[in-house]
Amino acid sequence: MQAQARAQPNIALIKYWGKRDLARNLPATGSISLTLADLFTEMRVIADDALREDVLLVNGDESRTMLARVSACIDQVAGDRRPAVRVESHSNFPIAAGLASSAAAFAALVVAADAAFETRKTPHQLANLAGRASGSAARSLLGGFVELRNRPDEVEVATLLPAVDWPLQVVVAITAPGPKPVSSGDAMEISRKTSPFYDRWVEQQSADLGEARAAIETRDLRRLGAVAEHNCLKMHSVMWASRPPLTYWNSATVACMQTVRDLQAGGTEVFFTIDAGPQLKAVCSAAAAPAVRDALAATAGVGDVMVSGLGGGAGTLAT
Ligand code: PMV
Repeated sequence: MQAQARAQPNIALIKYWGKRDLARNLPATGSISLTLADLFTEMRVIADDALREDVLLVNGDESRTMLARVSACIDQVAGDRRPAVRVESHSNFPIAAGLASSAAAFAALVVAADAAFETRKTPHQLANLAGRASGSAARSLLGGFVELRNRPDEVEVATLLPAVDWPLQVVVAITAPGPKPVSSGDAMEISRKTSPFYDRWVEQQSADLGEARAAIETRDLRRLGAVAEHNCLKMHSVMWASRPPLTYWNSATVACMQTVRDLQAGGTEVFFTIDAGPQLKAVCSAAAAPAVRDALAATAGVGDVMVSGLGGGAGTLAT
């Protein structure tokens, strides 16, 4: 019994930041993201009766940090009376640095576990199981522009527009490759409990979702960019006003924001977003991508720059 699956990270344009139910890891609000094509995580799940406990290898090295979450996620799919498994994870991009690596990892994991144990879950069930492990992972089950909606006791994901219908590019500027100081799960709880802006953030989310939905429907990059940047900066304002303050940016993150502002002033249709990490993601048309990549690569403090198109959702691979 073994299977392999691949999933791509997704970049939130209208962010998920805060939980309504901690035990079931349900988000406080809906969110909208785009799924990337060229960055991916592959997960192989091998059931092995000879193993006494689950083993996790991340890019070839045994890892205990994520093992408990991985085991719990597989239990959710296959039940806790399953045999122990060996899980092999490979990513072609830096993990745990605000690039939604956990989204790609848990989306790939539920698909691989479902196939290995032949549990035949529906895509809706798999999205909910991935979302229990990492809220944003539910969105990586699908491709293109994806909306996550809150439903009683669960979430629902839907593709608003497939990638081929609006083939934008995402340019990721890596300003610091290391893992983030506070996990997004812990940081969300700090924000919910202490930020004076948290309730307003939650209240305003449905207006931002509506605006983004309309911009995606009409493929209006300027309109989408305006609401996405606003939503991103609001999320970070919630974090900055938390106690202790959560500041994921560094000086290069701010320099990258200025680079995007300069490109916009020069007529390039591009916008930025930043998650719980110091990397900046710029979203633009395919025609603008080379100029955006060069401008970000030339920005002080930027290490690597990666460019990706938009892609399809998670799926199994031949083993
Ligand atoms: O799914 P998590 O727990 O890794 O949280 C994701 C949080 C953000 O990336 C900052 C926003 C989002 O909607 O993806």
